[in-house]
Amino acid sequence: MNKRQQLGFEHPVASDITPESVYRSRRAFLGTAGAAALAGLVPAAPARAAQDAPGALAARPDARYSTKEKLTPYGDVTSYNNFYEFGTSKSDPAHNAGSLRTRPWTVVVEGEVAKPRSFGIEDLLRLAPMEERIYRHRCVEAWSMVIPWTGYPLSHLLQAVQPTSRARYVEFVTLLDPAEMPGQNDAVLQWPYLEGLRMDEAMHPLALLTFGLYGKLLPNQNGAPVRMVLPWKYGFKSAKSIVRIRLVEQQPVTSWMRAVPNWYGFYSNVNPQVSPQNWSQAHERRIGQGSFGGLFTPQIPTRLFNGYGEQVAQLYKGMDLSKDF
Ligand code: MTE
Repeated sequence: MNKRQQLGFEHPVASDITPESVYRSRRAFLGTAGAAALAGLVPAAPARAAQDAPGALAARPDARYSTKEKLTPYGDVTSYNNFYEFGTSKSDPAHNAGSLRTRPWTVVVEGEVAKPRSFGIEDLLRLAPMEERIYRHRCVEAWSMVIPWTGYPLSHLLQAVQPTSRARYVEFVTLLDPAEMPGQNDAVLQWPYLEGLRMDEAMHPLALLTFGLYGKLLPNQNGAPVRMVLPWKYGFKSAKSIVRIRLVEQQPVTSWMRAVPNWYGFYSNVNPQVSPQNWSQAHERRIGQGSFGGLFTPQIPTRLFNGYGEQVAQLYKGMDLSKDF
């Protein structure tokens, strides 16, 4: 089986659980209520209340960092996933991720920091105000989605542990537990799943430490209870089910770099001009759009940095992105 087959190209199941119009009007209401609360017109709901409603995760919609593109239906976002710890085909994570226990959950933040610390997931949920950002999310396999994610910039967490001057990179480590993550019994990748960012990328306001989507806590298959989302990079940079964040001096070797070094570079910025993976990165198909449940989805052109160039291009000034892909 070649890598492309391993990546499991499949067509999505189009089950639209939350119609976009219903979701949008709820968001509009929350936005108004949030603004009114800030203005002192109505009392702000205590943060606990949001957690008490099963699965709900309150957040302030953040228009500044959100696209207005059509949302990918919730059913597609949660049934068409890459999460190799639960299998390599797109439908495997939704079927198999029920075995993952996400409470209690601890994230250790350590390495080149003045104040290393273990954060319980409840501490992390309270660390900073939750924001909702509607991001484009593009996979290297040339499909994309538009997802309302809930979280806050990773910079809030990194600042809390006080990086030292030697901290140049951030490494993300996913849970290692073959009993809960049956895919880890297959050597398709080296486990645990490792990802990394340069420090300035990690501190960028778009780099979202993510706890929810569509106003709810993350479903297991989307990386519960906490994952990264980096909208200008291919989806695989957005590590799921994170248990350890290490600030380090040397550039980390990520799982995908180790598995297929010619295909996957450290940066992995979305770039239509660079296609080391042997298939073109110039176009993408938006999951959940098009006829016959997404079978005939129109191709749309992919943009450099996934269209977030205005915000992130300066991070890569002077670099040759065809070499540092
Ligand atoms: N994180 C872990 N731990 N394991 C994985 O296999 N897959 C990556 C990324 N994070 C992956 C992971 C890839 S290839 C993609 S495209 C995105 O998760 C998919 O995220 P989504 O299923 O929420 O769309």
